[in-house]
Amino acid sequence: MGVQFEPVNPEFVARATNIDLRKPVSAEDKEAIVKACDRYGVLVFPGQLLSKEELIAFGHMFGEVDKTLQQKLMNHIQNRLGTDEITDISNLDADGNVAGATHWATITTVGNRFWHSDGSYKELPIRYSILNAVTAVSWGGETQYADLRAAYDALDDVTRAMVSDKVGRFWSHNTRDQLRIPDSEKDRAAFPKSRWPLVRTHPGSGRKLLWVDSKLCEIEGLPLPEGRALAFELIEHIGQRERVYSHKWTPGDLVMADNRSVLHRGRRFDHSERREMRRVETNDDVKSLGVVA
Ligand code: OGA
Ligand code: MN
Repeated sequence: MGVQFEPVNPEFVARATNIDLRKPVSAEDKEAIVKACDRYGVLVFPGQLLSKEELIAFGHMFGEVDKTLQQKLMNHIQNRLGTDEITDISNLDADGNVAGATHWATITTVGNRFWHSDGSYKELPIRYSILNAVTAVSWGGETQYADLRAAYDALDDVTRAMVSDKVGRFWSHNTRDQLRIPDSEKDRAAFPKSRWPLVRTHPGSGRKLLWVDSKLCEIEGLPLPEGRALAFELIEHIGQRERVYSHKWTPGDLVMADNRSVLHRGRRFDHSERREMRRVETNDDVKSLGVVA
């Protein structure tokens, strides 16, 4: 018997058992994981504390592992784990000590507190984000996921018609700007804005989804303030309680999310506690409509 999935939430989250991700994953299990991700969008694998090498190997099973974020933006803060294939999303300094609230490594993770899909601002975005918890904090620090397919289904008719032919522009630093994180002009320009239809169809499930996240900074054809106000409204709609799953981390949890189906965000916690987390991301093969400066 291979990997088993049981729904955590009937709509979009499943828990995986009967698999050890430290060992090579069979072709059948890999296919079952892809299918389950198409169906649910979020898969929780408890008890899978992987080494760096094992985490990278797991990522490679599902596509090319992204290095661009690490190379363009993260490595010049620090590269504690010594690889471009894993992003250290911990609140730790280069020596592995708790960095504290004012350290750049901590501040840079604060941008993750807005609802987002990893890489929505890239021409070639991210398909899967795989998070692995090494430690967990005593309060808060959950990662929440919100279902973009259910959000599309729940739109009222007027709004659905309005967004159906719209194209949005997504910018990497839109969230960081709102937080007034003082990034350099070079970093702010590291990724040109990507253009995306606001309604997309998921290739694996055929379901339509509302492609909106906190990187959406402009909607083409609408006055700038109107588009930005609409973006906030749609994100609020996506993040309604009935479409949200909140993952409280236990060390060793591995969560795999399909960025085309769900948004996610990190929740507040006390920065004097150790939250050690690793992330591997795979590239999608569907490009955006292009990029603009
Ligand atoms: C991320 C992210 C959320 C969290 O690493 O891409 O959004 O809870 N993380 O750390
Ligand atoms: Mn993220």
